[in-house]
Amino acid sequence: MKNLSFIILVLLVSCTGSHQSKEDQFVQNLLSQMTLEEKVGQLNQRTSQWEMTGPAPESSSDLLEDLKKGNVGSMLNVAGVAETYEAQKIVVENSRLGIPLLFAYDVIHGYQTMMPIPLGESASWNPQLVEESAKAIAEETAAAGVHWTFAPMIDVGRDARWGRVMEGAGEDPFLTSALAVARVKGFQGNDLEETNTIAACAKHFAAYAFAEAGREYNTVEIGDETLHNIVFPPFKATTEAGVATVMNAFNTIQGLPATANSYLQRDLLKGQWNFDGFVVSDWNSIGEIQTHGAASDLKEAAERAIKAGSDMDMEASAYVKYLAELVEQRRVDEALVDDAVRRVLHLKYRMGLFRDPFRYCNEVKEKEVIGSQAIHELSRKVARESMVLLKNEEQLLPLSKDVKSIAVIGPLANDKDVPLGSWRAKAITNSAVSVFEGIQNAVSADVSVQYSKGCNLAINERSFYTELTLSETEQADFNDALDLAKNSEVVVLVIGEDCFQSGEGRSQTDITLKGQQLNLFQAIYEVNKNVVVVLMNGRPVAIPELAQKAPAILETWFAGNQAGHAIADVLFGAYNPSGKLPMTFPRNVGQCPIYYNHKNTGRPNKSDEHVFWSHYTDSPNSPLYPFGYGLSYTTFEYSDLKLNKNEMTTLDSVMVSVKVKNIGERIGEEVVQLYIRDLAATYARPVLELKGFEKIELKAGEEKVLTFSLSAKELGYYLPNGSFQFEKGAFKVFVGTNSQELLEASFIVR
Ligand code: BGC
Repeated sequence: MKNLSFIILVLLVSCTGSHQSKEDQFVQNLLSQMTLEEKVGQLNQRTSQWEMTGPAPESSSDLLEDLKKGNVGSMLNVAGVAETYEAQKIVVENSRLGIPLLFAYDVIHGYQTMMPIPLGESASWNPQLVEESAKAIAEETAAAGVHWTFAPMIDVGRDARWGRVMEGAGEDPFLTSALAVARVKGFQGNDLEETNTIAACAKHFAAYAFAEAGREYNTVEIGDETLHNIVFPPFKATTEAGVATVMNAFNTIQGLPATANSYLQRDLLKGQWNFDGFVVSDWNSIGEIQTHGAASDLKEAAERAIKAGSDMDMEASAYVKYLAELVEQRRVDEALVDDAVRRVLHLKYRMGLFRDPFRYCNEVKEKEVIGSQAIHELSRKVARESMVLLKNEEQLLPLSKDVKSIAVIGPLANDKDVPLGSWRAKAITNSAVSVFEGIQNAVSADVSVQYSKGCNLAINERSFYTELTLSETEQADFNDALDLAKNSEVVVLVIGEDCFQSGEGRSQTDITLKGQQLNLFQAIYEVNKNVVVVLMNGRPVAIPELAQKAPAILETWFAGNQAGHAIADVLFGAYNPSGKLPMTFPRNVGQCPIYYNHKNTGRPNKSDEHVFWSHYTDSPNSPLYPFGYGLSYTTFEYSDLKLNKNEMTTLDSVMVSVKVKNIGERIGEEVVQLYIRDLAATYARPVLELKGFEKIELKAGEEKVLTFSLSAKELGYYLPNGSFQFEKGAFKVFVGTNSQELLEASFIVR
């Protein structure tokens, strides 16, 4: 509590001091005119499926009244210039102070034009490209009158069972941080006042991805050391990059709901990290404090949440119902409410909404920007950089231009919807380029390209909101597909998951391919060995049989609107694949959570005939495909790993250089990855930690020397109490093409 009063004091002093900025003065002045109810209204976020044919849906008549009274500070799910204009007009024309609404929307990988899902984009390991993508997404979103996206999701996720790994950047905190910052920069640009930028939201604070057994919304038990070293770094990085908002999380951590956790929100985020934006709760996560059993009623939940630093209440209506009363009863200090309101008003000011609440409402711009050719071209570029070549025996890929007949087979081969992925905002149903279409467009007229579905995905329902149901195992009748496969030179088999198998509420205990898909592969493989498997999925999948038999496998995630074109670009070599896995692919679900940066354990290896070492009796420990893995059509040779010194002090840095040469015959891009291992520290450190990467392009025969620097920032770590420590001792450094194929050197910190 001491800490908290201090923060508030500093805030008050800075607002009344002589160097008060125009913005501070404006906000302070406005705040001083507001009644307690009006203040609370700014902390209330409501949803709507807004209809222009009537100002508000019937069920939302109380919402309409609340808007008019100024009881709503922000709305989610109101999107489109006409819709946002209408809602904004109601508020500014009817409420006493006319404080404009902030419109928020889950724009996760596109507003209408879909980029690849975030996990896919992350496989590009290209922060510049990811930033460009977020910028284009922001332009479309802002053109639709929306001010604020609930993205990026920066939960480090290790468990493929958890469906929301599709929204994140994978299992590594260093990669996630770099891409999270890129996304924030892309969304927010240099100045939130520009009407082609939107406010970002780093979510979910914190540890949501550590749900036990990968089951959605489940309890989180996580140690402090893992919180500080794995979960928090992306949040710290986005805070430093100026992210406008942070969303808290549904889960409990060590028994305490994240939404009621004042260590997370006040001490760490707003305290130590100086976050000056606001925290929005997750959907009804204030209400769920009660469901968790950590508040006896909604009023107590509101009290706990505001005290813990949750500034805006999404859809629980807990603040609007009880906050004023709590203040009047002196259970909550009004200064806490003021601090929260001030944070919200600052963002509205920064976005220029007080000058003109309708400045994002431009119908001409909306038509021009949304779905432009430029954004579709970018989507294709991002999609092809996201793809990961998992296998390519005897250089089956790229397919020769001379190939005369191609069979495009599989439940996803001609699907125009699944590539759009989950969390698809205003994507147009069935608007993606299918693989079949992409291949047809890529080849000349004399190549025979034919399609056969082969089997279904075994998913009955396809919707974002409703439960997925698996259909009864269908009778396998692959006859048409097999005839086609027999009579074609090469088969492109497109299989994987439905796009709504991953995303929120989509955890699975089985991550193999559903239905008859594997049988279809096996039957086809019997009649034609030239099978290129194209995978679409939102999580790592367990595909040991494919990995063993299929000569070529291309991971394409859900690649967005231009999926088919981008996949054809890679299949025919117009683009040389460069993606690397941002998440480990397990052999089987029993290995989950499996991640490269694990601890060594006390018994990592078998030393003699006994069984008493850390292993399974029915599966190897090793993954199917490791973190950072991905092939190219060319080959990169690593050599000359050198350090500029073998000893350093804790104040010093060591320079690591490596030579990378393209020894193949085509131009290609490589993600050069640097890992470290702290061999002995007070707390056991991971066997490998990514601490640097660079994506480079090399022409055939070209070589390049890359240099990385390692100092305290990379070599130190957080103790469980949150203090950062750089310990002396022996370190190893590794550089290579993935987390398993690495050159190695060592040095000592004295
Ligand atoms: C999700 C959030 C999302 C919010 C608003 C919640 O269920 O966890 O990530 O932003 O809904 O749609």
